Amino acid sequence: MTTDLGVEPTPLALLLLGRQADPESERGTACPGELPAASDPDLVERARAAKAALGDKLFVLGHHYQRDEVIQFADVTGDSFKLAREAAARPGAEYVVFCGVHFMAESADILTGPHQQVVLPDLAAGCSMADMASTEQVAEAWDVFTDLGLDGDTIPVSYMNSSAAIKAFTGRNGGTICTSSNAEVALRWALDRGRRVLFLPDQHLGRNTAVRSLGLSLDDCVVYDPRKPSGGLSADQLRDATMVLWKGHCSVHGRFSLECVHDVRRRLPDVQVLVHPECRHEVVSAADLVGSTEFIIRTIEAAPAGSTWAIGTELNLVSRLAKAHADKTIVFLDKTVCFCSTMNRIDLPHLVWALESLVDGRVVNRIEVDPQTAADARTALDQMLALPAL
Ligand code: 13P
Ligand code: SF4
Repeated sequence: MTTDLGVEPTPLALLLLGRQADPESERGTACPGELPAASDPDLVERARAAKAALGDKLFVLGHHYQRDEVIQFADVTGDSFKLAREAAARPGAEYVVFCGVHFMAESADILTGPHQQVVLPDLAAGCSMADMASTEQVAEAWDVFTDLGLDGDTIPVSYMNSSAAIKAFTGRNGGTICTSSNAEVALRWALDRGRRVLFLPDQHLGRNTAVRSLGLSLDDCVVYDPRKPSGGLSADQLRDATMVLWKGHCSVHGRFSLECVHDVRRRLPDVQVLVHPECRHEVVSAADLVGSTEFIIRTIEAAPAGSTWAIGTELNLVSRLAKAHADKTIVFLDKTVCFCSTMNRIDLPHLVWALESLVDGRVVNRIEVDPQTAADARTALDQMLALPAL
């Protein structure tokens, strides 16, 4: 089917509202209609009371991109690497409530024991980047590598921001998961074992790490477009590449442009530009510092009073940093508002609903990965957790 504009519509809806699950997507959705009203003045007290009632049975994880109203209830906050490690380290908690997005909750389910149940307060909290690599597309791509005899010396490295099925593919094929805080060490590990890497699904993290941290050239990287036959690449291009980058990106970090960097430098001459490696290569190249959300937080914490920063990452985190460090000037790199809409799906009404349901003995929005997928994905996640620290 083509639209009036003559283009193929995306098979992957980016934000699904409704009751059905979408088999094309890394998540399902459910809006059971039992949510407390957002205007309820008692929501904070209700969340506190439910947490207290659940006590040690409950462990709440919060990603740095979560809203302030939610993050205040997290037992631990972190980037996706830290949260995966924390989930794996809490065998005592019966319920792990994940304030983050679907792929993070899936990873938590894979890394926790069978007696633990992982809850995502709103199932519509997916990730458009993770949705850009479907199981079928990746299987088709791997067939291309196999037909060319390249599967034996190609190591898949998948970003944490991918579905459990893609992580399972990675585990079955001798690869590893990485996050933005360990992508360099993951790529070095992979290139010690193979001639080339298939990097999924964020082309920017793959390219930025290969070029900035490993010293590869842009010519060593090719982009595999899953919408084109053989990814739009010739056999020679695939064979000769060191990095085969999946054509996926983060719709939030992808908004920051080189113009944003030039503009902020014009407006604030002493500014230091600090960006996440999911930003485009030209943005990362023009920045002063690049790193994961944990790196961004550590950098601002260590910065001297009076210093000036423009930060290119999700807005909830940037505004929280600006509030917490009033002695420094902290601005958002883009002039327009840029929240991650799916991270923002987790709000206080959903959190209260999930917690109060647990108090009532009902586990809502449980994230459960099927055992075979979980076992294969765990191989790749365990490989990531075993990578040496940088
Ligand atoms: P990190 O948590 O690894 O910094 O990744 C950012 C992100 O986009 C999470 O969705
Ligand atoms: Fe996905 Fe980007 Fe949102 Fe992270 S910030 S959840 S990568 S869309």
